[in-house]
Amino acid sequence: MNGRNKWYLIAAVLFLLGCQPSSNKNSFNPKTSIIPMPTVVEVKENFFEAKFLNFNNDFKSREFKLFKEQLENYYPKKTIFSKSTSSKNFEIKIDETINEDSPYYELSIGQDFIVVRGGKKGVFYGLQTLFQLIALNNNSISSSIRLPCLEIKDENSFEHRGFLMDCCRHFFSVKTIKKYIDLLSLYKMNVLHWHLTEDQGWRIEIDKYPKLNTVGSWREDSTGKYGGFYTKKEIREIVKYAKERYIEVIPEIELPGHSQAAIASYPFLSCEKKQILVANSWGVFKDIYCAGNDSVFIFLEDVFREVTELFPSERIHIGGDEAPKFRWENCEKCQKRMAQENLKDEHELQSYFIERIAKILEKKNKSIIGWDEIIESKINSDVTIQSWRGFSGGIQAVKEGKKTIMSPTSHCYFDYGINSIDLEKVYTFNPVPPELDSLESELIIGGECNLWSERIPSEKELDRKTFPRLLAMSEVLWTYKKDKFENFQNRVEDHYSILRKLNVHYGIESSPVKLSSTINNRRINAVVNSKIKNLEFNYQWNNEDVKSLNKNEVIEIDKTGELILQAYKNGKKYGNQKVEKFAVHLGLNSNVDYQYWYNLSYPAEGLSSLTNGRLGSLDFKDGQWQGFSGKNLDVIISLDSLTRINKVSMNFYQYINSWIIVPSYISIMSSKDSLHWEVIKSVDSIGEIRKRGKFIRSLSFDSLKTDAKYLKIFAKNYGKLPSWHEAAGAESWLFVDEIIVE
Ligand code: ACM
Ligand code: ZN
Repeated sequence: MNGRNKWYLIAAVLFLLGCQPSSNKNSFNPKTSIIPMPTVVEVKENFFEAKFLNFNNDFKSREFKLFKEQLENYYPKKTIFSKSTSSKNFEIKIDETINEDSPYYELSIGQDFIVVRGGKKGVFYGLQTLFQLIALNNNSISSSIRLPCLEIKDENSFEHRGFLMDCCRHFFSVKTIKKYIDLLSLYKMNVLHWHLTEDQGWRIEIDKYPKLNTVGSWREDSTGKYGGFYTKKEIREIVKYAKERYIEVIPEIELPGHSQAAIASYPFLSCEKKQILVANSWGVFKDIYCAGNDSVFIFLEDVFREVTELFPSERIHIGGDEAPKFRWENCEKCQKRMAQENLKDEHELQSYFIERIAKILEKKNKSIIGWDEIIESKINSDVTIQSWRGFSGGIQAVKEGKKTIMSPTSHCYFDYGINSIDLEKVYTFNPVPPELDSLESELIIGGECNLWSERIPSEKELDRKTFPRLLAMSEVLWTYKKDKFENFQNRVEDHYSILRKLNVHYGIESSPVKLSSTINNRRINAVVNSKIKNLEFNYQWNNEDVKSLNKNEVIEIDKTGELILQAYKNGKKYGNQKVEKFAVHLGLNSNVDYQYWYNLSYPAEGLSSLTNGRLGSLDFKDGQWQGFSGKNLDVIISLDSLTRINKVSMNFYQYINSWIIVPSYISIMSSKDSLHWEVIKSVDSIGEIRKRGKFIRSLSFDSLKTDAKYLKIFAKNYGKLPSWHEAAGAESWLFVDEIIVE
């Protein structure tokens, strides 16, 4: 972590000054909306203007060649570099006193010159900043290139600024990957975490095990055979292309889980040794590498021999996440291994597995990165932890002295919709949790945004999911110090024309229709509070006439029903219509006491969620579904006063692939004083456990005719996923949106 605390005060002041347009000479309105924001920017009064740039150094230097190519691709019809009387000097100064691996650079633009100074890497980053300035200030170059005069001194905060690309669930071409390498370097990201093996496809050519590619790279989906793999030649080409742009490619070879494609190719790798298919649905699968069979480790050592020949990175990602232990629990060899190695449970067996792989890689001078599950049990080897299940795995890792990359689902999962992670949410990401002291925080080497591709079938969708959120991630990891979000948003706005020209089909910044609600006198007051400027809205309540709605205008909801909202920008629909369901009932706004806490990954609206009158949709990440992992829903609802109750109803969610199952037993009890309880109804089974797809199961207890001030709702979590489930043995989730009292 370099210089995270240096210079920021001056930077902030100077940058804000820099944002003011200087004197408006010849209607030149200089833009300095660089992303990530440089550490120090001092914007000067004047501006640079020249017909051509006279390059004063070695034309053959790689730094220059790449920059020239970048500009020529961006302005295809324009000669930019030329020695003529109408040229001004452009100089790259490789400073031998600066380490060539240091990202530090200085950029100086005067009326008659441009100078980029730094070590080799620094110069590359300086040229990216210069490229942005040229693109921001010269939509097209008809006659001359204009730039604001300024001085920049800049360096990174975090050393690891990563982007995870999952080429397994869906396959992306070499061309797409190169486009992304270009974009990552433009925004000073420096790690491409390349996810290459999965349940749904093995994507790296391995000579010794050809079936990994003839079998494991292909799955049957609804459209037929789908898949592909990268040849060794293509991989070398990508690694070289990335290296020239100061991006390290770190391959991820998943183990012991997410390995169904390998097992489909070579069934001896699993505990049961049965022929299975490459997975053609999404989720977590219980067939994983057998930890008791030495042939598995020989296979993996062979695979890593070929992998390490292709990837010069010092670290190899070995996955380690989401490995159900069901097969190991029922495998003779795995159990024998546990006994021989004195391992107390399957988590220790997983550690044994990881340590063995770490040792294989250590011999090749590589260390490993693994998802936070790998520290559930003790790991002695030199490992870097990537924390995805929130921040806690990362905090634990740091406390154990391990380097950590933060990529919590809450801020870094760009495959999630904009409703759950919008631009501002990413911008608020702080990879260093407040509970770490300054020494500990040195172990947080950076962060990553993850683009799992289950729902990213095309480059266009990849663009929509990645941009503009990547710009926020880039600034968090490079600059660290936060600008005001509104200023950042204005800078992002300036980048859209650049992204368009670079053929990026960027998505929206946040959900155009966001509703907040309060409850007053058994009425729900709903307000649209979109963060996007210049939107107009229409709404329709329960099939009544469509009406227009101003931002901040209150819609009073005094009965159960459905609200449909649509945003417009410049008269055109902006984003999809949003359907919000409301229930107005006797329990609205009642206090809820929890026996077991909901999981912080799915808090919905926290303590008020189950009585806020707002119902969940078929999107379980919509912010209304409250999730309990492995725990029961056991709550007491305190009504305002003793109340005649006729009906209590609630909705549960089921989506087996994501381990969400409706409860196996539900009861309601009532009390007048919270001391004496009476079971008023219970039901044993409301679900069809094997039913696939996403659905909501509603349950009503009618004709109660009871007087109560307190209601106790108990819904039993299904528990461990059953043996037929792909992730057998894992804890299931229970999701509920509202307790409706009538
Ligand atoms: C993960 O998202 N399973 C690392
Ligand atoms: Zn086994």
